[in-house]
Amino acid sequence: MLTKKQKYVTAVVGATGAVGTEMVRTLEARNFPVDTLRLFASERSEGKRIEFRSSSVRVEILDERSFKGIDIALFSAGAERSRIWAPVAASSGCVVVDNSSQWRMDPEIPLIVPEVNPHDLSWHKGIIANPNCSTIQMVVVLKPIHEAAKIKRVVVTTFQSVSGTGQRAIDELMRQTTDLLNFREVACNVYPYQIAFNVLPHIDVFLENGYTKEEMKMVKETRKIMGDDTIGVTATTVRVPVFRCHSESLNIETEKKLAANEVRAILSSAPGVVVYDAPDRKLYPIPIDVAGTDETYVGRIREDETIDNGINLWIVADNLRKGAALNAVQIAECLIGKA
Ligand SMILES: NC(=O)c1ccc[n+]([C@@H]2O[C@H](COP(=O)([O-])OP(=O)(O)OC[C@H]3O[C@@H](n4cnc5c(N)ncnc54)[C@H](OP(=O)(O)O)[C@@H]3O)[C@@H](O)[C@H]2O)c1
Repeated sequence: MLTKKQKYVTAVVGATGAVGTEMVRTLEARNFPVDTLRLFASERSEGKRIEFRSSSVRVEILDERSFKGIDIALFSAGAERSRIWAPVAASSGCVVVDNSSQWRMDPEIPLIVPEVNPHDLSWHKGIIANPNCSTIQMVVVLKPIHEAAKIKRVVVTTFQSVSGTGQRAIDELMRQTTDLLNFREVACNVYPYQIAFNVLPHIDVFLENGYTKEEMKMVKETRKIMGDDTIGVTATTVRVPVFRCHSESLNIETEKKLAANEVRAILSSAPGVVVYDAPDRKLYPIPIDVAGTDETYVGRIREDETIDNGINLWIVADNLRKGAALNAVQIAECLIGKA
């Protein structure tokens, strides 16, 4: 368990990746009390230097002794690395905040969104899981609505940016776009089909029930974070040619009737949420405006006229920030009592 200190030896595992890079920036931007920063990545990046505060930190590779003396480690290097190294880190006395899918559904490991279930941090045993990016922004919005009117069912369709897949996918969208605009053939290395100027209803692998793993993550993780197995969630997850920010269309059915204005009022005072909803002035959240921000933006709030108690809304958040790095740093802030 974490001993209270003035400053903490902090590590980022996967520091050269899309999320890891954002983690380093977020630690600096939020003035997290870092004593020494240790950065880890694969052997491909060993020796590379990454800027932090006014100096540069050398990237190291992991070994059995790496975590000695580290207080908090933010992991963002994929599920396989988390499976192997998170227990090694935890047994060295370090608290791990893991961004991969490896531990999220483990009943012994809390899955945390600080605005929703910070109380679940009390039972961590050294590893804390950070939810999937598309789930985080959805539960930040669902939680206050659930408290006000008890949610029965959610139908969600996502429009997810390529940065959700990582740096290789960012490079692929850039390269394909450039190639197409220069009348060259495109190569598909990350996604099964061209992503530039296209839309793919396929994120992660297909499961036996016909859903993708990403869709089922949204179902299961939502129930675990909200602490309510009765909430029905059905999801369609879609990859779109956007670099940054996931957008989601939500249809929410509640037990108690909520008017659109009541939802607007509830969400206006919800932590981590910004209501940006003025259709008469063509104001609604869009990825290029939300990129680089910390909150989950909500717009297009309206009543579903086909059922008694239904609300439709549109939410956008930066998947690398609230969907990953920021949520992880907020968890670390809760751990040290800074939040
Ligand atoms: N992108 C998102 O929006 C998002 C959101 C939530 C969760 N996540 C999760 O976060 C994790 C990282 O995602 P990402 O998008 O940042 O991927 P990424 O851009 O591909 O970065 C992967 C990172 O892992 C490092 N790595 C690979 N093999 C390693 C090894 N053997 N030892 C140590 N480090 C190793 C890479 O180092 P090199 O540069 O040296 O290869 C790189 O720093 C994944 O588990 C993903 O599911 C991502």
